[in-house]
Amino acid sequence: MIDDVIKKFKDLDNKELRIITGIEIGMKHYEWVPIEELIKFSKLPYGTLDYKLRELIKKKMVVATHIPYDGYQIYFDAYDALALNTFVKRGTISAIGDEIGVGKESVVLEAVKDPELSIGEKQGVIVKFHREGRTSFKQVKRLRSHLAEREHFSWIYAARLAAKREADIMKQLYPDVSTPKIIDHNRHALVMEVANGSLLYKTKLGDPEWFLDEIMRQMKITYSKGIIHSDLSEYNIFVFDKGVQFIDWPQYVGIGHPHEDELLERDISNVLKYFKRKYNIKRDVAELAIYIKDIEES
Ligand SMILES: Nc1ncnc2c1ncn2[C@@H]1O[C@H](COP(=O)(O)OP(=O)(O)O)[C@@H](O)[C@H]1O
Ligand SMILES: [Mg+2]
Repeated sequence: MIDDVIKKFKDLDNKELRIITGIEIGMKHYEWVPIEELIKFSKLPYGTLDYKLRELIKKKMVVATHIPYDGYQIYFDAYDALALNTFVKRGTISAIGDEIGVGKESVVLEAVKDPELSIGEKQGVIVKFHREGRTSFKQVKRLRSHLAEREHFSWIYAARLAAKREADIMKQLYPDVSTPKIIDHNRHALVMEVANGSLLYKTKLGDPEWFLDEIMRQMKITYSKGIIHSDLSEYNIFVFDKGVQFIDWPQYVGIGHPHEDELLERDISNVLKYFKRKYNIKRDVAELAIYIKDIEES
């Protein structure tokens, strides 16, 4: 089963997985993992290792340098395979499906989870791989304040940290705030429930006033738990017949953040601009901020 999923995903065999794992371990200490270390970590003879490394480079899973010494790094795709491998071993997914979203900072796939103890139905789930640190150094810098004094820094840490941040906050907010339930978390990846309905920007609402109220109510609950989403818009809100669900949390801030008011107002204003443009509904940002912060006189 593990082989099936990983094979379908990236056509990797067990030896290749071992090599990738070895490079991952090595990257904790080296920017480029030396071949001698890799022999130790992978426990493969030099000949096999050398051959397989070449295959992995061809598949764009691994990248090599030769100056000042022969060293290796993994690419995101290889890191994805390691996380998937862990999810499969833990039984949090049993098969993967299509890619459903590629953002600046993530790749999202559909997947399947087998029922516990094989009783009941298979469940459709979502796997989100974080991609922070891949393209822009700005994102890395943004995360850097959370990285404390890590000497050696790479995209692996940026992506890993963002995933942990997102998993932690979603677990903390669920189920009081309407957001998909986190099922598992490993490395830079999350397994979560499929959000209900469809994204706000893709949906024609019959009763937009009701949905706008519901979005504000969810923002109020979020705020009451000390959190501001900070990346809220029609692209990160799902709507369904009975409500709304917020996704995409890694940029959240806690109350007390120096820009908390600005970030809250930006979230409100993103949502209001959308409802104004699409449904010609007009509301006041400042009034809604007061409502969310619950500072009306009682
Ligand atoms: N739980 C989920 N259920 C359904 N679709 C999801 C879910 N999480 C993410 N997606 C899809 O993947 C896309 C990207 O995910 P998102 O968390 O918004 O990351 P980002 O926008 O930072 O790349 C979303 O716009 C949505 O289409
Ligand atoms: Mg998003």
